[in-house]
Amino acid sequence: MSSPTALFKLGSAAAQLLSQTDLKALPKHIAIIMDGNGRWARRRGLPRVAGHCAGIRAAREVVETCSQLKISYLTLFAFSVENWKRPKTEVDFLMKLLRAYFRKDLPRLARNNVRLRVIGRTEQLPTPVRQDLQNAIRATEENTGLCLSVALNYGARAEIVDALDAIVREIKSNGLQDRVIDEELISRHLYTAGMPDPDLLIRTSGELRVSNFLLWQIAYSEIWVTPTLWPDFTKRHLLEAILDYQRRDRRYGGLSDSDAAGRLPSHSGDAAPRH
Ligand code: FPP
Repeated sequence: MSSPTALFKLGSAAAQLLSQTDLKALPKHIAIIMDGNGRWARRRGLPRVAGHCAGIRAAREVVETCSQLKISYLTLFAFSVENWKRPKTEVDFLMKLLRAYFRKDLPRLARNNVRLRVIGRTEQLPTPVRQDLQNAIRATEENTGLCLSVALNYGARAEIVDALDAIVREIKSNGLQDRVIDEELISRHLYTAGMPDPDLLIRTSGELRVSNFLLWQIAYSEIWVTPTLWPDFTKRHLLEAILDYQRRDRRYGGLSDSDAAGRLPSHSGDAAPRH
């Protein structure tokens, strides 16, 4: 596989950004709310579905770039539990598009050593979608590079309900014993069990909300929002997000190193609480 630096045309904006990126401090897990396909199409006088087609192309570029950067996990929000409310023609088109991705992109996923998985209430998806998905998951399960999770029929509240339901069922069948409900137990029952929480959450199209995406897992994620619509999102934007992430001071509710070393004036009575 090519090294990250071989990926970008010399002198391109992306190559410049890459030269500033610390490849040893990349986020392990990037999650993306891909938004703006409809607006992208409307601005061009095209039907909404044309925006979704262009959205697949953007997703391809991001998957490939993450793989080449050796990011471990990428989670893409493709279809929410609320998206069934859209017109049937749009939902059917999206399902067709995703099926085509799971079938036609297998060689590309193999070339990039990508392992596919899915998170969401997949049992409620149409059977042909489930079949293509299962085939693609099976075909990529030996790959050892980027783990690409597609959130399909996904909702974070539904995920938490499903986790609690599974825990209650386990307790009912195994008896209560000494089981304590703690964060680790809940995490282990989420669809994302075994994955680290996202370090970086990206949202396109400028909306400042998290839209029922990974609510438990993004407790300490850094959030990066861009006005760019998803179909226009490229490796340059991904690198901008990563660079911005690398400038953040992640404290997880504690103190930064400089604060902990007592470098802040002790009289700073106006200090806001830090999270
Ligand atoms: C939001 O645009 C995007 C979606 C509903 C998800 C569709 C995503 C894709 C087709 C790419 C999926 C790719 C892979 C590989 C899983 P919107 O329709 O909400 O846009 P709008 O807010 O402008 O109407």
